[in-house]
Amino acid sequence: MAGITTVGQIGQFDGQSVTIRGWLYSKRSSGKIRFLQVRDGSGVVQAVVVKSEVSPTIFAATDSLTQESSLVVTGTVRADGRAPGGYELQVSDIQVIQIAENYPITAKEHGPAFLSDHRHLWLRSSRQHAILRIRSHVIQAAREYLDTQGFMLFDAPILTPAACEGTSTLFETDYFYDEKAYLSQSGQLYAEAGAMAFGRVYTLGPTFRAEKSKTRRHLTEFWMLEPEMAFAELEDILSLAEQLLSHLVNSVLTDKATELKVLGRDDTRLRSIAVPFPRITYDEALDILRQNGVFHEWGNDFGATEDTLLSEHFDRPVLITHYPRQAKAFYMKSDPNNPDLALCVDVLAPEGYGEIIGGSQREDDYDTLLEKLAEHNLPREPFEWYLDLRRYGTVPHSGFGLGIERTIAWICGIKHLRETIPFPRMLQRIYP
Ligand code: 4AD
Ligand code: MG
Repeated sequence: MAGITTVGQIGQFDGQSVTIRGWLYSKRSSGKIRFLQVRDGSGVVQAVVVKSEVSPTIFAATDSLTQESSLVVTGTVRADGRAPGGYELQVSDIQVIQIAENYPITAKEHGPAFLSDHRHLWLRSSRQHAILRIRSHVIQAAREYLDTQGFMLFDAPILTPAACEGTSTLFETDYFYDEKAYLSQSGQLYAEAGAMAFGRVYTLGPTFRAEKSKTRRHLTEFWMLEPEMAFAELEDILSLAEQLLSHLVNSVLTDKATELKVLGRDDTRLRSIAVPFPRITYDEALDILRQNGVFHEWGNDFGATEDTLLSEHFDRPVLITHYPRQAKAFYMKSDPNNPDLALCVDVLAPEGYGEIIGGSQREDDYDTLLEKLAEHNLPREPFEWYLDLRRYGTVPHSGFGLGIERTIAWICGIKHLRETIPFPRMLQRIYP
C-alpha cells in the first residue's frame, strides 16, 4: 500500500512507492515512454510511464489525458539530478478522476484581459503560484514580526458608519431602518481604540476605496496591515516601518528564493535594502522633483508622476514626512513647530513602485480634533466614539497602514497589482 504524499514532500520517500493526487500540467511522449508533468499545488513532478511496467489499460489512459485532467498517480520515487525538484516518479498505477475539457489557458501567450476573465484557472499557473505564495509568506512574516514586538492582532469592522480617508472614495450600502453603512477604507480609527485598550495592536483585513482611477496601482478592494501604538510619536513609527519592511524583504529573500527565481526577479535590488532608510521632508521632496524638471505646487499631495520619480531616486524605500496638512486626512496631528504641516509619513518603495505605506501621529487633543472634523466637513455624530478616545485618557499615539498588494508587487517586481491578490477588484472588474 503506497502512502499518499505531496510533491513538496516527495524527497522524504526516495526509493519508496507513494501516491500523488493532482492535475496534469503537461505531457510528452517518446516511443514506449510517457512523461507526465503532474502538479498537486505543492509542486510539479515528472511521472514516467513505461509501457512494459504498467497494464495496457493504464498505458492507453495516459494518451487520453488532457491538460488539467485530474488524476491519482502511484509510483516509486527516484532521485534524479535533472528533474526540477530533484525527484521523479516511476509510475506503477494511474487512476483518472476526470478528463478535463479543452483547457482555455495553454502554453501560448494570452492577453491580460483574457487571463483576468479566467482568473479562477489562471491561479494554477507557475507564475501566479509564485506570487501568491510570496503573498502568503509576506502576511505571515509581517504578523510574526509585529507579534514579537508586542503587538496584538485586533480585527476592525468592515461595515462602518463613517469615512476614514475622505468621502470621495466611499462605498455606500443600505443598512437596516433607513441607515447607511460604508465599507471600511481603513481599520485605523478602530485600531486607535485598540491601542488605548491594549497598547500595541494591528489590524489586518480588506479595505475598500471606490477609486475611479484606472491605474496599475489601484484596487477597489485591497488588504491593509495597520499597526497602531499608544505612547508613540512620529519618530517611533518611522523606525517601526523601516524595521518591518526590512524584515519582510529579508524573510522573502531567505524563504522564497525559488519563487523569486520563477518570477525572474532581479534580487540584487532587494539585497541592498538595509536600514536606515533615507528620510526627507515634503519640502525636500519638492526640491528633488524640481531638480528633475517636475514643478509641483506646495500644498498638494503627490500623484503617480511625483511618487514614481521620487521612488526611482533612491535605492531603498524612502520615508517622506511633514506633508502640508491640507493634503492629508483629518486625524493627523499638526506639527507644533509649523501647524501647516502634518506629523505624517509616506513610504515610497524604490524602482518606481511608489507609495506602499501611509501613516501619522494622531491628533490626540479633543478640541483640536473637533475643529479638524469641522474643517473636513465631517459630521460629528458618527465620530462621537472616536472623540471619546480623547476624553478618556488621551495619549500621544501613532500608526500606519501598509498596503499588502503594493508591497508584494514591489517585492515580486511586477508592475500591475492585479496579480498580487487572488481575485482583484478594480474599476472595470468584479468578475470572477
Ligand atoms: O495612505 P492610506 O490611504 O492610509 C490610510 O488608510 C491610513 N488610515 C493608514 C493608517 O495610518 N493606519 O493607505 C495606506 C496604504 C497606501 O500606502 C497603499 O499602500 C495602500 O494602503 N493603498 C492602496 N492599495 C491598493 N489600492 C488602493 N486603491 C490603495 N489605496 C491605498
Ligand atoms: Mg496615502
